[in-house]
Amino acid sequence: MSDQPADRDEAPSGMHKGLTSYGDAGFSLFLRKAFIKGAGFSDNALDRPVIGITSTGSAYNPCHGNAPQLIEAVKRGVMLAGGLPMDFPTISLHESFSAPTSMYLRNLMSMDTEELIRAQPMDAVVLIGGCDKTVPAQLMGAASAGIPAIQLITGSMLTGSHRGERVGACTDCRRYWARYRAQDIGADEIAAVNDQLVASVGTCSVMGTASTMACIAEALGMTVPGGASPPAVTADRMRIAERTGGQAVRIARERLTIDRVLTAKAFENAMRVLLAIGGSTNAVVHLTAIAGRLGFEMDLPALDRMGRETPVLLDLKPSGDHYMEDFHHAGGMATLLRALRPLLHLDALTVTGRTLGEELDAAGPAFAQTVVRPLSNPIYPQGGIAVLQGNLAPGGAIIKQSAASPALMEHEGRAVVFEDAADLASRIDDPALDVTADDVLVLKRIGPKGAPGMPEAGYLPIPLKLARAGVKDMVRISDGRMSGTAFGTIVLHVTPEAAVGGPLAHVRDGDRIRLSVAQREIALLVSAEELASRAAARPVVEPTAERGYRRLFLQTVTQADQGVDFDFLMPADRSKRIPGAP
Ligand code: FES
Repeated sequence: MSDQPADRDEAPSGMHKGLTSYGDAGFSLFLRKAFIKGAGFSDNALDRPVIGITSTGSAYNPCHGNAPQLIEAVKRGVMLAGGLPMDFPTISLHESFSAPTSMYLRNLMSMDTEELIRAQPMDAVVLIGGCDKTVPAQLMGAASAGIPAIQLITGSMLTGSHRGERVGACTDCRRYWARYRAQDIGADEIAAVNDQLVASVGTCSVMGTASTMACIAEALGMTVPGGASPPAVTADRMRIAERTGGQAVRIARERLTIDRVLTAKAFENAMRVLLAIGGSTNAVVHLTAIAGRLGFEMDLPALDRMGRETPVLLDLKPSGDHYMEDFHHAGGMATLLRALRPLLHLDALTVTGRTLGEELDAAGPAFAQTVVRPLSNPIYPQGGIAVLQGNLAPGGAIIKQSAASPALMEHEGRAVVFEDAADLASRIDDPALDVTADDVLVLKRIGPKGAPGMPEAGYLPIPLKLARAGVKDMVRISDGRMSGTAFGTIVLHVTPEAAVGGPLAHVRDGDRIRLSVAQREIALLVSAEELASRAAARPVVEPTAERGYRRLFLQTVTQADQGVDFDFLMPADRSKRIPGAP
């Protein structure tokens, strides 16, 4: 590395980038060089393109348990391509080890990722993420930082076996827990199941949020081809990591910045894929947030229109029967994208520097398999997610129709209302609770500000006395989210949320609520005058906090239709639309 500042005609690169402010650029570079040489680097190494690698492993994050091996493989790929790999830690988030919910910390991770990309010298960055909020956080942060970036997914866990039945996190977690609650199985069996649900490191093995975001990252063109599906512990996953490292060097040299990949067409492809895989409802919020960082406004009614012409093709739990490793053996995303080809923008650029269509052509021929259906024989005739409108949700709500009970999708019932999560916990299993299977369970104040962080508490449990009587599903409504691994007739993301005074705040026990998925309607059958008088009688006081991150969160978090991002992280100009102009 020369001690001279980089050529004035070119933007600084490699170790010359982002010099620390000592008021003397030459001294700053001299000092940086001295310190990194202290770590054993030679001048030869320091002249290479620098590739940052986010290290998101943590003892608290089994979904990223293969991070050390992935980093080693990425470094190998970087060095084989002539770059200098520099791994650095960022926040790591795991679903089961984040209170009150990992979503509360997603924006913090995005800020951490963005600022460390900005602060440290790197020509491109490899984002290693997997567990639910990590990939969205990384794409949000990298989109704001604006340098060339490439996503590496940690990969899914293997499935286990319980008494001969294949099981995996976490659709089977919920199914077995519901059986335990209903006293269908005992303590010994639920303990035995617990041993088998997570058979290795890696992300949940069904089409939960992690798998959904992995597929979306590939559909966006942000991974190397085939980057979504290899399980965490396989050689395929390690080879993807090595390829990712090599490709990171190429995008650094070509200055293929993230905004050239994350275009309106790429987001539209991602929306198609979300619908066709029966993906997690959480991805709607995450895609909105990622796109928002680049100045795009997501058109939710358009997502619904796309859903009417985009059937579910992927036969994975919770909408279908298989697991992620089966999807990988069936050819992964190449097989899915080939089936979806007529509905995709094939000219969207990917991180390989080639288009999605060119990569599909290079992926080789289709072969017989049973996990991805053709458009002519889908597992569900419409997209997995439907967008609902109505006086209960003026800003919209969503339902994962592919995981709902057909008998409940046109339903009117009496509201049984829980004011918040604590109220739910204290009364849901009370034998005296006035509830029948035809009622509609309503949970308030689990939205972005309400809980806070919009926890995955929208999957309200069936009241114990009904569960024991064999009731498996009821219509449930909240302003929260639900895990992508869950199933049921569950209306989510009701916007505006109760904690900011949305109509949901004023629902009372006994009100009638109508759900019509066919009409895309969620209606509270109470007059506007009555709702206004309830609002005047009990005005909503928005939650606040004295200090710290919670204060920042409550003051700046946006609603679900804005991606639950912080308002100050989004660009002022968000005039571009997704889908874009035809
Ligand atoms: Fe990490 Fe499910 S808990 S992906």
